Parts: sequence; C-alpha cells; structure tokens
Amino acid sequence: MNFPPRFLDELRDRVVLSEIVGQKVRLTKKGREFSGLCPFHREKTPSFTLNDDKGFYHCFGCGAHGDAFSFLMEHDKMPFTEAVEYLAARVGLPLPKPSRQEAKKEKTRHKLSDIMEAACVFFQKQLFSPAGETARTYLKGRGITGAIAKQFRLGYAPMGSALTAHLEKMGFDKNDCRALGLLALNESQNRWHDYFYDRVMFPILDRRRRVIGFGGRLMTKGEPKYLNSPETELFHKGEQLYALSQAIETIRKTNSAVLVEGYMDVIALHAAGFTNAVAPLGTALTEQQINLLWTCCDEPTICFDGDTAGRKAAVRALNRALPILSPGKSLQFVLLPDGYDPDDMIRKKSPDAFQKALEGAKPATFMLWNTLMEGRRLDTPERLAKFETDVKETVSKIKNKTVRSYYQKAFKNNLWQLGRQKTGKNLSFQKQSLPKPTPNAALARMLLAYAYRYPETLETISDELSDIHLPDPALATALQQILSLCVTAPETDASKMEQALGQTVRPLIAAEIEMLDTSERTADDVKSELSVLINRTQIDAIKEDISQKTRLWAASGDSVLWDEICLLKKEIEKRSC
Ligand code: UTP
Ligand code: MN
Repeated sequence: MNFPPRFLDELRDRVVLSEIVGQKVRLTKKGREFSGLCPFHREKTPSFTLNDDKGFYHCFGCGAHGDAFSFLMEHDKMPFTEAVEYLAARVGLPLPKPSRQEAKKEKTRHKLSDIMEAACVFFQKQLFSPAGETARTYLKGRGITGAIAKQFRLGYAPMGSALTAHLEKMGFDKNDCRALGLLALNESQNRWHDYFYDRVMFPILDRRRRVIGFGGRLMTKGEPKYLNSPETELFHKGEQLYALSQAIETIRKTNSAVLVEGYMDVIALHAAGFTNAVAPLGTALTEQQINLLWTCCDEPTICFDGDTAGRKAAVRALNRALPILSPGKSLQFVLLPDGYDPDDMIRKKSPDAFQKALEGAKPATFMLWNTLMEGRRLDTPERLAKFETDVKETVSKIKNKTVRSYYQKAFKNNLWQLGRQKTGKNLSFQKQSLPKPTPNAALARMLLAYAYRYPETLETISDELSDIHLPDPALATALQQILSLCVTAPETDASKMEQALGQTVRPLIAAEIEMLDTSERTADDVKSELSVLINRTQIDAIKEDISQKTRLWAASGDSVLWDEICLLKKEIEKRSC
C-alpha cells in the first residue's frame, strides 16, 4: 500500500522516538537529548544520541542515523510497510482508507487468494487419500516425513480433472481459476480440465503465508520435471522466494541465509535444521530477490548445484548483484562438489558435510576474480593488458562509490602481483614467492660456523645459503666473504679458510666453531645437519609469511593472496615430511 505523505508526517509527529528506541536501548536523559550505547556497533562508552524534538538518532561512533521508521527497518529488520503499521498501531493513528481503486484490487486479491487456498487444501487432502499412495511412497523415498510434508503443505494433484470438479462445486468462477493457472480450457471441445495432474505439489506462499502459486513435480522421468504456475495477478516469480515465510525468522536471527536452486533442496535443508534456506522459483535470481534477501540479512550465501548449470547460475547471480552491492551488503558463494545438489549433500553425505561446505563460503570478490581469470592465458603483456581492461570494466559496474573503490583497490593489487609473477624474470612462481629465511643471531652464527669449518660441502648447499637473510650486518658480511671465497677458490678447505678469514670472520663465531670441533663428522653428516638447520629457518619464515598474508587476505579478500597462502601451506607440508 502507498501511504500518503501527509499521513506519514502526522505519524512521525506523534511518535516519541525515545519510547521506540528505549525498548531496545538503555537511554539516559541529558537535557533535551538522550544518550546510550549504540545498538548498531559494539562500544563501551555511549556515542549514540537521540533527540525527540527533532525525531532522529545519531551515532558519533559509527554514523548510524535515522528516524523511527529507519530504526525499525535497520534494527528490527522490518519492511517499511510493517514499520508504518506498527507505529500507527502504537500511537493509535488509524491507517488511511484505501482508495476505491485500491479497495477493489484488495477485494479481487481476496477472491483469488481464496481459490488458491482451496486448491492447496484439495491437493493436501489428495496426498493423504488412497489416490495419493504413489505420491506418498515417492516422498518417503526422498526422505520426506509426514510432518515435513504438512509443514510445507505438500500435496498431490490426481489424474483426471478432479480439481475442476472440486472448484466448480465450491462455486468459484472458472475463468478466475484459469487466470490463476489452476484450470485450462480446451477451446475446440469447450472442455475444462486441470492444469496440474499426477504431480507432487509444492505450494508457494508469500510473506504472509498466503498461497500464490504451485510447483508440481512428476514422479517419473518426463518433461517438464517441474511444472510451475504461470505469472498471475498473485504470482510474480521474480519477486518471491520459495519458503521465505518459513525461513525469515532464522534468517533475521542469525543474519544468514542460504539460497539454493530447488524446492527439494529447501525442504531437505529445513528438515536437517538449516531453517534459513530459500530458493528462487525456477528462474534466474532477480535483483528484486537479492534486495528482498538483503532486507533480512547482510550476506546471503548462494549455494547452487555442483554442476556446470549451477556454476553458471552462480556467476549470473553475482553479475546481477554487482551493480547493487552496497556497504555491508554482499553475497557469499559455496561451490558444491560436482554432481551434488544440497539435497544430495545432506542425504548421501551428511548434514555435517553440508555445514562444512557452508563454512567454506567465499566472498564475492573471490568469486568475481576467479570468474574473471577463468580460461585466460595471462602470459604476455598484451593478454595481461586485455585482462586489466576487462577487470576495470567489470568493477565499474558497481554503482556504489565506496564499494567500487575497495574493489578497485583489491583488484589493482591482484593485477600488480599477476604482472610481477607473469612478466617478471623467468623465475618459477613458487621459488619467487617463498620468503627469505631469516635465522636469529644464534642460529645464524651456527650456520656460519658450518660453512667456515666445512667449506668443501658448500658447493651443494651454497644456493640455499645465499638466499638467507641475515639482519646483523657483521654476520651478513661474514657470510658473503665465506661464499665468495668458495666461489673464487673452489679448492678451499678448512685450513685455507683459516688463512683467509681467521682474523676477520673467526672471532664472530669462535664459540660455535669450538662446539662443532667436539665431534667428528663425515661430509654427508655435515650436509644433512646443515640442511636440517636451513630447512627449519625456511619453515619458520614461511609460517610467518602465511600469518601475515592471512591477515592481509582477511582484510582484502584478495584471491591471489589466497592462492599464495595455499601454495605456502603445501610447501610447509613438503618440507615437514
Ligand atoms: P533441478 O532440476 O536441479 O531439480 O531444478 P531439483 O530441485 O534437484 O529437483 P529434484 O531433486 O530432481 O526433485 C531446480 C529447480 O529448478 C526449477 C524448480 O524450481 C527446481 O526446484 N525447475 C526445474 C523448473 O521450474 N522446471 C523444471 O523442469 C526443472
Ligand atoms: Mn535434487
């Protein structure tokens, strides 16, 4: 319903904001203003203020700002109409009378709603009648209990034209029933018949749980597998989500929603305790449906089937959402294993397996970057340049300036790293991305002592030694001196080392050399002891690098970083065994 502005103004005047907000926030009066702990962000000292005369609240900590309507919409996640009705009832202001046109529309709506309800009850009864036996067996075979069938008001549309007879007997106008997609007319024979027959029926309810449409599934192979109600005066597929009325409470409470592809997926998830599952209605996800989800939670999770069609649908959903992303509002993505839909995951694997999949949900940035990269060969400057152009064009679709600028930043960083990897010197990605091991001073002196005492083994290990980073300049110089002596004079042994560097290097590592000299070792012993030391410093460096990159990744969602983190973890595994 459209409320006239005059009505809204009067309502705003009559509402005492502190009474509305005061139900949720402990407020302290200070002169004409109230203050309290902000309900929109965590804080220990109050920065939330409210002024009844002006009718608005403002938080100096997080910038939350608005009036009684926006408080109910933002804080209690009420849709606008509901907020208006709630406030009007509170202050005893009667809702404006609908216009004649609106009243007429409402009456038609009622009439049509009654027909849909009658059809739903009819299908439900059929399911539990003798005619519904195959349908009951079918549902049981798919793990649906009687209780779940009742909860979702599942039904059965029998063979023949039983619904036609039933609706006629109840006195409904056949043309209305036809407009609702329940009956059809064979014009040449002037014969009315049912639109759905021999199908398991899934009623589609609106937010107020009124039946607005149906999906009917064949129990055997055939086309179409699901037959849906056509678009009608009550049923606009693009504006509805299957099971939203059942899921909305959990969605709001947990600030999370799972969007799946099919009716059966929703039902299986609810039965397994994932009561925040909803689905679009057999069509691609629309902007309105995304906005609808965003009125109840911040980052709904898209969890489509793990096949090519499901993946494509997820990408399409992402492209739909891109222009309308806004601060705090995004999508997350779960990709199921190939060949599985959520219903299969729950029943063939386990609810736990599905939970794990949900926990691995990826942010929209990650999904977008991977989609952009897919199937590209980024191995020449021209290909990289084309890629960069495409990335920029895609990001420019985001209308919200702030969100866009963060995407630009994250992707700029990704692009820079790509360019560095792909066009840099001909180094392998792995080697280049490994951090330099940085041993502490004690360990560094021990390494130097080995190199000093056993120069003949250095040949095989000098590459790794020269990669080491020594923050202490004296030790760094010593290492350089040892290594260059071995390069310029390959026959260097311990005594030649002593002659050349006994004055400069030995004093730095005298204690370590003494320790080494307490036992005998073969060349192989030396090599393996030295590798163990180097390996350990390398692992420490990689661990440090992983934790740094993880922090960065958490802040930016940068997928190149994620790939690097995975490689680094693999490297640790490789080095640990
Ligand atoms: P799927 O073909 O993935 O089916 O369609 P499903 O949900 O896994 O169904 P089951 O498990 O085989 O019973 C996903 C959704 O696409 C719509 C329906 O909404 C379905 O739930 N759809 C599918 C149609 O509208 N018509 C069709 O012919 C097929
Ligand atoms: Mn399925």
